[in-house]
Amino acid sequence: MPVIAFVSPKGGAGKTTSSLILATQIAELGQRVAFIDADPNHPVKTWAQDGGAPETMTVISDVTEDDIDDRIDEARQHSNFVIVDLEGTAATIVAHAISAADFVVVPTQGSQLDAEQAGRAFKLIRAQERVAQRHNPGFKLRFGVLFTRTAVAIQSRDTTYIRKTFADAGIPVFNTELKERAAFKAMFSYRRTLSKLTKAEVSNLDKALDNANTFAAEVLEVLKKGFQEVTQETTQEAAQ
Ligand SMILES: Nc1ncnc2c1ncn2[C@@H]1O[C@H](COP(=O)(O)OP(=O)(O)OP(=O)(O)O)[C@@H](O)[C@H]1O
Ligand SMILES: [Mg+2]
Repeated sequence: MPVIAFVSPKGGAGKTTSSLILATQIAELGQRVAFIDADPNHPVKTWAQDGGAPETMTVISDVTEDDIDDRIDEARQHSNFVIVDLEGTAATIVAHAISAADFVVVPTQGSQLDAEQAGRAFKLIRAQERVAQRHNPGFKLRFGVLFTRTAVAIQSRDTTYIRKTFADAGIPVFNTELKERAAFKAMFSYRRTLSKLTKAEVSNLDKALDNANTFAAEVLEVLKKGFQEVTQETTQEAAQ
């Protein structure tokens, strides 16, 4: 079952927020999700400690660089999806997790400086791809860039320009952006899933839920069909 790792050596890129959104959205569809919280600060273990995780989601946090590959393989046996949140460095554990993943999401904020940092994540991905190619010459590790914390109102010129730069370089980017939303922060303050927050607690909850659903749906589509097809379909739909 697919293993999706969230990778960016840049601290604060949105790995924990976007991985938890994906995991909880999929788990609330009834899928069994194993969440591997491989960040030594264990933000998702803390999030789950009040019992706010969906019934079908388990959080595994006692992993080390020596056993993360085995723990991922073990989790794969018992779940429909394995989602891995990693620390914001280029530590060895990150390389091990990438090598055990089927798909890597690279979250980045929509500024030029952040996008340059995403380049360090691509290097890590390529390095693990080359290791795998020694045994399996045609192997390609699938990945996609996810813009996070983007402005709600309009797409900024920065983000539009960076999208184009990535496209020109052949780097796949999710159509969906995770917008800057209070609800995405509130998940951590209240230690609940988005669907268990209330309108009294946080503004624009329905918009955040829509955004989270669209993101999860796009990831599932991309896993099933591949990036190019999904991006083309969405572009065609938008043109109609
Ligand atoms: N879409 C979003 N809307 C609002 N706030 C967000 C969003 N994404 C991330 N944040 C906030 O940005 C900060 C960094 O996000 P997060 O912790 O998810 O990044 P990270 O890449 O996991 O960081 P680290 O490298 O430290 O693990 C947090 O305060 C988080 O609440
Ligand atoms: Mg994090």
